[in-house]
This record gives sequence, structure tokens and C-alpha cells, in this order.
Amino acid sequence: MLSDKMEKALNDQVNAEMFSAYLYLAMVAYFQDKNLSGFANWMNVQNQEETFHAMKFFRYIAERGGRVSLEAIEKPQFEWESPLAAMEAAQKHEAYITGRINDLVNLAIKEKDHATNSFLRWFVDEQVEEEDSVNEVVQKLRLLGSHGGGLFMMDRDLATRVFTPPAE
Ligand code: FEO
Repeated sequence: MLSDKMEKALNDQVNAEMFSAYLYLAMVAYFQDKNLSGFANWMNVQNQEETFHAMKFFRYIAERGGRVSLEAIEKPQFEWESPLAAMEAAQKHEAYITGRINDLVNLAIKEKDHATNSFLRWFVDEQVEEEDSVNEVVQKLRLLGSHGGGLFMMDRDLATRVFTPPAE
């Protein structure tokens, strides 16, 4: 059985993951508008991953006899100065989500909830990958600078990313 505090925090995380999906979907729209379909594809994979994360929390709450309660999803930003600015916003957002996961782990320890602590290990590891993949894109974009040809080559590259549900 989840404590009230833990249940509330896990429900808040469902909302945070759904917001992440929504934010990345806004970025899909931004990149589509810039005719960068590869970047849009890459972000759409992010969007799908976030929905997967939200559902993983959703299922877990129910499995532990908790009640999932869905709250309104905040409106995301939908315009950025440049592809780099959008990717940097995604990078910053992932660092924020990592902080939230760490806070959840701290709460699970405080509540002596070993099952939730164990469940959260998956997310601790997942966040390492999440931060790494967006960092890579940001670093490549910074290297390109204002080199337009490089941007289109990178767009072709990012078009190949496909969503494969992460191993659980
Ligand atoms: Fe669900 Fe990208 O963190």
C-alpha cells in the first residue's frame, strides 16, 4: 500500500511525464513548421517515450492499490528562437525531470517504501540515457553553429530515429 504522500507524488509525476510529452509535441510542431522533418521525427520519439513513462507510473500506482488521479496538463511553450534553443530547452527539461526522479527516490526512502524505491531505479537509469541523447544533439548543433548545410545533414540523420518501447 502506498502512503498518501507517495501516492500524491507519483500522481504528480504522471502529470510531469504527460507535460513532457506535450512539450515535446510542441517541439514537433515547431520543427515541422521549420521544414526540419528529421528533428520533428526525433522529437516525436521523445514524445512517445514520455507517454510510455507516464503510463509506467500510471500502472504502478494501480498495482500498489493506489488511485490514479489525472490533473490538467499545463500549456507548453511552442516557439523558440532557433533549433538549438529548442533542443537546449529539452536538455534543461530533462535535467529538471532527473531532479524530480531523485526527489521521488528520496521520498520513497523517507517513507520506507522499498517497492517504490526499487521501481524508481528504472527511471534513475532511464534519465541517464534521456539526458545523454539530448546532450548529444545539443553538442552537435553547437558544433554546426550557423552552418546551414550541416543542419540539413543532421536533419537527415535524426529522421532515422524510431521509437522502441524501452525494456522494463
Ligand atoms: Fe520521462 Fe524524458 O523523462
